[in-house]
Amino acid sequence: MRRAGDVSRRWEAGTSAEYKRMTPTTNVAGSLQTRTSCVTRGSHSPPRASTVDASTTASTNTTPPSVSPILTHFAGVPIPQLAAEFGTPLYVYDAAMIRQRARDLAPFDVTRFAQKACSNLSILRLMRDEGVLVDAVSAGEIARALAAGYAPSEKDHDDAAIAAGHHPAIVYTADVFDRAAIDTVIEHDLPVNCGSPDMIDQYGERCQALGRRHGVTLRINPGFGHGHSQKTNTGGEGSKHGVWHTEVADCVARAERWGLRVTGVHMHIGSGTDMSHLHKVGEALERIALEVGSSVLTISAGGGLSTPYRGDEPPIDVAGYYNTWNAVRERLASAFGHAVNLEIEPGRYLVAESGALLTEVRAVKKQGTLNYVLVDAGFNNLARPAMYGAYHPVSMCPAGSGQDKEGGSSATTADCPPPTADFVIAGPLCESGDVFTQKDGGIVEARPLPQPTIGDYLVIGGAGAYGYTMASNYNSKPLCAEVLIENGQPRLIRRAQTVDDLLAAEL
Ligand SMILES: Cc1ncc(COP(=O)(O)O)c(C=O)c1O
Repeated sequence: MRRAGDVSRRWEAGTSAEYKRMTPTTNVAGSLQTRTSCVTRGSHSPPRASTVDASTTASTNTTPPSVSPILTHFAGVPIPQLAAEFGTPLYVYDAAMIRQRARDLAPFDVTRFAQKACSNLSILRLMRDEGVLVDAVSAGEIARALAAGYAPSEKDHDDAAIAAGHHPAIVYTADVFDRAAIDTVIEHDLPVNCGSPDMIDQYGERCQALGRRHGVTLRINPGFGHGHSQKTNTGGEGSKHGVWHTEVADCVARAERWGLRVTGVHMHIGSGTDMSHLHKVGEALERIALEVGSSVLTISAGGGLSTPYRGDEPPIDVAGYYNTWNAVRERLASAFGHAVNLEIEPGRYLVAESGALLTEVRAVKKQGTLNYVLVDAGFNNLARPAMYGAYHPVSMCPAGSGQDKEGGSSATTADCPPPTADFVIAGPLCESGDVFTQKDGGIVEARPLPQPTIGDYLVIGGAGAYGYTMASNYNSKPLCAEVLIENGQPRLIRRAQTVDDLLAAEL
């Protein structure tokens, strides 16, 4: 069930004086519990309190994030405890943060999670629990959606049901069908969002042979785009994505040749897009939908909503964004004389802030004038900095802080020194680009950190989107484990690969 709402977060200082002052913060570093002054010895850390107020209508983003140089807990759990129990590197996710982000988008008729951002089955089940539907870009993602409980339905191809508000649970959306994908789509009779004219022909041919006269939606490239990096810009002629905006009439005719009809228009112009570009998409989509005509039952705003990785970006005005799209939908509904469904298809917005990559410090050294801290995670775990020069907030957790032998908090002020110097943060891979603090083009940067020592932890925040899903086995490194924390309880949601797993597939 969709619930509009907001999560108000606070970390309660508990009943004792152990917590002198805590900064309540919803944090892009991944729901990280921060302290601006340090904890004195002795108490169990209080579980973080997250309350969901289902009565408030979702409007804007919540508290602007802030990044503390020192973090001791993640979602209420001591970081050293997580590291001891599950090992490092380790992806951790805060379920409450994901739920909050899903509820932010409740005004849209459908939030369709672009699972490529974070496709662990437990995350998909959580999305489903929040009433979020899903897209898939491959046979593997279809299999994940099915395994998480999303089910295709006959109504997915029934225009009357769709006009009355039925929303397909899974939509295949891509620019191509590889052979496995089209076989899987046909097997499960899934709705398709076509990003190239050839997809229409390939799908149409298979449908015609089976006597299926389905609707298809078109992903249109409006001729412009924007992303946080040129590599995530999915519009304009420099992008391979979507049906070119002048080809719409041809695509409608192609669909009709196969007995199909165009029932929806979709635009996704990039990932990490700025709001001024996103607002322009509505106008472009409206034009195209009018060109297609009254067979259009659904419009999709795509994804692209950005995430405040640096902590100083203004919160996204979700309500304003919804209003822009709702106005487009209403104008189209009045032009067509029937209701039009409004979908949004975010990946990053739903999960980026919920996740962090925990990693252990394994070496600290100087290279000329630069200080380096080398950790046990690399771009095999989190590729975004190496791939896009993407910025992730990084904080330090002193070894042993946040818990004592009995599991209580044992951090002292000595455990939480202020930043002492700037450090380049790099991984263990045999590759110069294996640096978490780099700009686009591979320019290495240094970040202020307290002096790290071997065994301390670094917490790389904002890692919930395009983190684990872009991980690799480079240097024969097994994929690491993932843990989901809900109500203060960490749960392993994917075991780490072993080297034997790696070798098992090789002949
Ligand atoms: C078709 C489509 N929809 C949605 C998304 C999700 O984008 P984001 O994570 O920026 O919301 C993507 C990612 O690029 C995409 O290609």
